[in-house]
Amino acid sequence: MATKESFAIIGCGRAGAAFARALSAAGYTPSGFASRSLSSARQVSDIAGYQGANVSTLPWEVTGEADIVLLTTPDDVIRHTAEEMAVHAGMKEGAAVLHCSGALSSTELVSLADAGFQTGSIHPLQSFGVAPSGKNPFEGIMMGIEGEREAVERARIMAETLGGTPFQIDTAGKMIYHAAAVVASNYLVTLMKSAMDLLGASGVDPEKGFAILKPLIMGTLGNIESSGAVDALTGPIVRGDTAIVRAHVATIRRDAPQMLALYHLLGKHTVEIASERGSISDETRRELLSVLSG
Ligand SMILES: NC(=O)c1ccc[n+]([C@@H]2O[C@H](COP(=O)([O-])OP(=O)(O)OC[C@H]3O[C@@H](n4cnc5c(N)ncnc54)[C@H](OP(=O)(O)O)[C@@H]3O)[C@@H](O)[C@H]2O)c1
Repeated sequence: MATKESFAIIGCGRAGAAFARALSAAGYTPSGFASRSLSSARQVSDIAGYQGANVSTLPWEVTGEADIVLLTTPDDVIRHTAEEMAVHAGMKEGAAVLHCSGALSSTELVSLADAGFQTGSIHPLQSFGVAPSGKNPFEGIMMGIEGEREAVERARIMAETLGGTPFQIDTAGKMIYHAAAVVASNYLVTLMKSAMDLLGASGVDPEKGFAILKPLIMGTLGNIESSGAVDALTGPIVRGDTAIVRAHVATIRRDAPQMLALYHLLGKHTVEIASERGSISDETRRELLSVLSG
């Protein structure tokens, strides 16, 4: 097996610890760890399991031997940290710097790009726990990568070596890509909580809400996977059943008024999906939109 690259981690929190453990296990050599506090840097160095790594609170003191520097600080300090690293010039020639933010692009690292380093970002679509478990959290996940050509190539190799699947994003599209991930993950939680609250309002034991809805949810996800989102749609809107939708609105207004705005809004988006599918006439579309506008 070809020798893998050495890496340094700047910002030793949840993502930093997950990368340190997995990269080390995959054969990358840990060479340095820096964090705001020395204790976090030491802890993640221990997680990487290599005694010879440099540890500091100053990034440029630990990056000198690294082929790849991973910036896993919080998003709001990435740019400033990169600027300081460029000023202190502690990296070796040809090194690549990748940050792991989902929302920000490699342009945050412009000062390091100007200093001649390869810059990019590698975003694991994964939620890392506070205490990393024994399981490789990169196995089977998708990882969005973007940046300069060579940095992207090294990020691609890293993602695949960790067991993930890399896919490239346009640098200019990074923020909207992140908005998509928020809708898919965070708003799914909001949606599930809302469905469970409505079920509770119907008299079902709130403790059983998720268990009752889960087969329906999983079946819907399966249909999206096999047929695509537009064809997966079922229910009264795609059937054009205006009477049922009107009855829902009246009942929610009476029994769960805090849910009405959400029902209206999602309902209107659902009408447009039904219309795209061609399952409702223009007249039914207008009628449904009127019912869902209050
Ligand atoms: N957590 C996830 O699930 C996840 C998933 C995908 C991507 N990401 C990305 O990974 C990055 C880190 O997120 P995280 O969740 O790992 O955050 P986190 O757990 O809060 O860790 C960030 C670490 O950065 C350190 N830090 C803060 N300011 C610093 C500075 N100025 N210089 C050096 N180190 C500094 C902190 O160190 P001390 O402990 O020393 O105070 C902290 O441990 C973000 O860009 C995030 O978007 C996270």
